[in-house]
Amino acid sequence: MSQTMEALRKEAGKCADEIRKYKSVHVVSHIDADGLTSAGIICTALERVDLEYTTRFVKQLDEKALDTIANESHEIVIFTDLGSGMCEPIKSRKIHAVISDHHQPQGNFEFHLNPHLFGANGSYELSGSGSTYLLASALGGNKDLSSLAVVGAVGDMQHLKMGQLVGINREILEEGVKEGTLQSKKDLTLFGKQTRPVYKLLQYSSDPYLPGLTGDEKACSEFLNSLNFRNDELGRRWIELETAEKQKIVSGLIQYCLKSGIPSYKIERLVGEVYTLLNEREGTEMRDASEFSTLLNATARYDHAEIGLKVCMGNREEAYEDARKLLAEHRQNLVNGLVYVKEKGVSKLENIQYFDAGSEIKETIVGIIAGMSSSIVENRDLPIIAFAKSDGGVKVSARGTQDLIRKGVNLSEAMSIVSAEFGGAGGGHDIAAGATIPENTKEEFIRRLNQFIGEQLRKKAHST
Ligand code: C5P
Ligand code: C5P
Ligand code: ZN
Repeated sequence: MSQTMEALRKEAGKCADEIRKYKSVHVVSHIDADGLTSAGIICTALERVDLEYTTRFVKQLDEKALDTIANESHEIVIFTDLGSGMCEPIKSRKIHAVISDHHQPQGNFEFHLNPHLFGANGSYELSGSGSTYLLASALGGNKDLSSLAVVGAVGDMQHLKMGQLVGINREILEEGVKEGTLQSKKDLTLFGKQTRPVYKLLQYSSDPYLPGLTGDEKACSEFLNSLNFRNDELGRRWIELETAEKQKIVSGLIQYCLKSGIPSYKIERLVGEVYTLLNEREGTEMRDASEFSTLLNATARYDHAEIGLKVCMGNREEAYEDARKLLAEHRQNLVNGLVYVKEKGVSKLENIQYFDAGSEIKETIVGIIAGMSSSIVENRDLPIIAFAKSDGGVKVSARGTQDLIRKGVNLSEAMSIVSAEFGGAGGGHDIAAGATIPENTKEEFIRRLNQFIGEQLRKKAHST
């Protein structure tokens, strides 16, 4: 066990001891895949030790949400996949709580499980669900729940930085492999290997974007024909192909990308480590960590967290069917969103590029679309900032690249500081962050953010 893991387990033990003192717990979590799997993990663990629980899912943990929670006078609250950015506001409201999170902490807290506090990076070495898995382990065995922890980490794209899960995430993966619930292997990274016909995998590929194939069903079929796949074979799914057939497609795709002049770092992303949940039925979303996480995003981001939570906790009947219906709509929304960005284009400043989706894209998925749009914008050297209308003002989502981080960009810091200057609030990770700002501050915010990120770049350039 790594030293960091040991330290985290110790803190998890302390938090678990505190939780055991009470009869009922209020779980507050985030509305994305990592938040849902976090809640699934802790609720299952609580059930197993006969503790009662209630749940609440929020878009973000702002002052208003905290006021409501404080007014309900819970004995103890467990915040999962959020909370670390709100230590002081939680304390000032006297909410008795345990925080199990991986976002960059602001302030400190007595019962606080977060990789950043133990020398690990919460943007790729441990997710919210991973942190919560450690808490669940301290409450009981719960080794089977490592699968959900991997789904959450993949949902937060933590495996992308190194092409595989690393750090504490990897230690958790290995526990699952030992348990016989998880498998990791190198494979094609395109989305939908369990559930979609192969030509659809190509048609919907956005990372890397395949010029001439992405978005063009006919071209995708013809490409497969050129590799000697007959038309009547095109309905097969990736998992149904023979190893030799898979290899033929992967090398065909690499050739195609090379010919299209796609840079090699993008081509490399065609193959990477993928994670299989061995206890799930083959051909279902849950079998593949990436497809599972998208299924979950399709629920909670559309106000149906209760459906996603049930799926996390094992429902494969009604809730699963409902989730699949939501998934079809979610996919359509992502496609529409990308088309919108492509048609509208992005505006460029010196240090950032941005688009404003107004109410064309739902604020809860604008961050996903900002992330996916990096494959369609020309310039990957600038962070992408997206705006969307939200109830309380304007939602901002920011996405960067590893390269930008190396050059000094920290989007979490930028979002948190700059949004606060305009009376908003934000945070997140160095590579992906978000905020809400008041209406009518957008123009000024963009100008100031551009300047702030310029300063981050200059500071780093001077120090090296
Ligand atoms: O709220 P939370 O921490 O769960 O969200 C993390 C976000 O960061 C996700 O939307 C994920 O897609 C994004 N991310 C990213 N690129 C990475 C790592 C994370 O866009 N390399
Ligand atoms: O909403 P979006 O996907 O852009 O969020 C990116 C990251 O920023 C997530 O980790 C999210 O938890 C965080 N965030 C935040 N405060 C906000 C909005 C987003 O910490 N107001
Ligand atoms: Zn998370």
